[in-house]
Amino acid sequence: MQRTLITLTINGEEREVAVLPHHTLMEVLREDLGLTGTKHGCELGECGACTILLDGEPALSCLVLPLAVQDRAITTIEGLERSGRIHPLQEAFAELGAAQCGYCTPGMLLAGAALLAKNPRPTPTKMKEALAGNLCRCTGYTKIYEALEKVAERGEVEKHETATPASSSNGIGGKRQ
Ligand code: FES
Ligand code: FES
Repeated sequence: MQRTLITLTINGEEREVAVLPHHTLMEVLREDLGLTGTKHGCELGECGACTILLDGEPALSCLVLPLAVQDRAITTIEGLERSGRIHPLQEAFAELGAAQCGYCTPGMLLAGAALLAKNPRPTPTKMKEALAGNLCRCTGYTKIYEALEKVAERGEVEKHETATPASSSNGIGGKRQ
């Protein structure tokens, strides 16, 4: 099948990639670009495992066509690092054991990081709203919310600057699988 050459801006870098017409952004990220921190879950927009950020807003990459986002800034879990430091929410996840199997973790981290970038001290209600589309089969969510609360209490996100994407990282949630 014929591929189309497009340019995507991913984690602050322009990447040329030849995409198949029927492939979603999730498939292109994972299969063509090797960014396997974006997880392949339901493919139906229901689990949140494939969450990425488009211009800083969470989006489900299994429902996005790559051709439609050539002018958008795409952030994957590999792009949360800043100046060699993983995101404070990644640190809090590691500290508190908020990841078990880890399959939901990249999506949770990106949805949480997007919330903290807009609202560094969110209320519990805002946290629940922000993570409502991200399902976790392991943790019961308690540690995930505790990690968000910890980062909010410490006010660490202001220092981390989620606005400027960096290149690849292998921090928590970004491990290749
Ligand atoms: Fe996209 Fe489940 S894989 S929402
Ligand atoms: Fe396993 Fe969330 S840690 S699905």
